[in-house]
Amino acid sequence: MSASKLEKIGTYHVPALLNETVDLLNIRPGKKYLDATLGGGGHSEEIVKRGGILLGIDQDPEALSYASIRLKQACPGLTPPKFAKGNFVNLAKLAEENGFEKVDGVLFDLGVSSHQFESASRGFSFSQEVSLDMRMDPALSVTAKDLVNGLTEKELAELFTKLGEEKFSGRYAKAIVRYRQNKQIEKCSELAQIIVSQAPPSEKFRKIHPATRVFQALRIAVNDELNSLKESLPQSVDLLNQGGRLVVISFHSLEDGVVKRFFLEKQKQNILKIINSKPIIPSGNEIKLNPRSRSAKLRGAEKL
Ligand SMILES: C[S@@+](CC[C@H](N)C(=O)[O-])C[C@H]1O[C@@H](n2cnc3c(N)ncnc32)[C@H](O)[C@@H]1O
Repeated sequence: MSASKLEKIGTYHVPALLNETVDLLNIRPGKKYLDATLGGGGHSEEIVKRGGILLGIDQDPEALSYASIRLKQACPGLTPPKFAKGNFVNLAKLAEENGFEKVDGVLFDLGVSSHQFESASRGFSFSQEVSLDMRMDPALSVTAKDLVNGLTEKELAELFTKLGEEKFSGRYAKAIVRYRQNKQIEKCSELAQIIVSQAPPSEKFRKIHPATRVFQALRIAVNDELNSLKESLPQSVDLLNQGGRLVVISFHSLEDGVVKRFFLEKQKQNILKIINSKPIIPSGNEIKLNPRSRSAKLRGAEKL
């Protein structure tokens, strides 16, 4: 990606809880840090500016090409960061391959970036007339369209309940299967319309779109998000030096639950010490400036 393309993209992603997150990482100049979810490089830029030696990882090649140019421009004269394409499910291997066998901080800022969400070609957003895709890594083989058209009614209902915590899973799954009898579901807006047409009146007047939870469930399944998180957290603890910090921003209760339970288990085993027992959340002002930050929950723990 060229510097002029970078300018054309404009704001790739506004990092949630920027200062709170980087403060919690406790950056010490000259020490090594892993950003497991590089995205647009907002948190990474602050880590590098505070003197951290950084390895930025992302499974999305677009994020890597954007952030690598951004960081080069934003941090002249500082130690240039390294970048690696990959899923953080392979965190230990990616770190080792890049000379980051031991680090003083690991950051996970989970979920999708605003750029991914808004890019028509990526198929995440329910308002768009685009193919239902939702793969963060374009090399993955299964898309949301495959799931929505391929799963049985029972499997769809289970998926929406388990990964979307959707109250009306059965009703939506039934409507999807009925619709499929005439034609495949191709577009994000088509699926959203099916859900809206079945949503009870109470759902139509809520702040969030009635299809939010169904889309969340599909996205988590397509990208195997919860398993990747569960497998990468122990690897990040192994990579940390004593006194190093593990910092995670999550955006829904399923992710936050995984992080909270993991921190508690490791604290019980005297491996981690939880820094903030209550998650740090954005201020009203931050939410006003960056509404996407509204569900962010930040947790940090230190390696003993
Ligand atoms: C919320 S954005 C991160 C934004 C970033 N902190 C910033 O300041 O711009 C999450 C990023 O993590 C990446 N991601 C999510 N799950 C991943 C995984 N399992 N492995 C690697 N990257 C992942 C996404 O592709 C996305 O670019």
